[in-house]
Amino acid sequence: MKRKAPTATLILAITVMSGTVSAEISPVRQAEIIHLLRHDCGSCHGMRLEGGLGPALVAKRFTDWNIDQLALTILYGRPGTPMPPWRPFLTDGEAYWLATRLKEGIQP
Ligand code: HEC
Repeated sequence: MKRKAPTATLILAITVMSGTVSAEISPVRQAEIIHLLRHDCGSCHGMRLEGGLGPALVAKRFTDWNIDQLALTILYGRPGTPMPPWRPFLTDGEAYWLATRLKEGIQP
């Protein structure tokens, strides 16, 4: 009998990783991710991330969100909406790093 890996296991694995990621992302890569945020995310979420086709990506919007929810939204997108998955471009660790910056509030 084939066992299906429960989604919870995946989420747990990502969660366990998230505690240690920021130290592993080089300053050069961090700058690249911020560039992606300004240009790619900004094309839908607004150049100043104050909203456009997609909602504003500002800290006050994310007070009730945890980092996992934010990172998983970035990684997997929102199926059925224009929000694309960023897995092809960001590792799990990088998505957590970006999610943490967004939750703290970033001024691009
Ligand atoms: C092609 C347009 C597009 C691009 C590019 C895009 N998004 Fe989105 N995003 C959306 C839309 C539209 C939604 C709202 C989806 C919905 O209706 O639930 C969304 C939702 C989100 C949400 C959930 C916000 C909330 O309050 O519900 C987050 C977080 C997010 N995007 C982050 C990002 C990040 C980070 C990037 C860049 C890596 C990005 N998005 C790039 C269109 C885009």
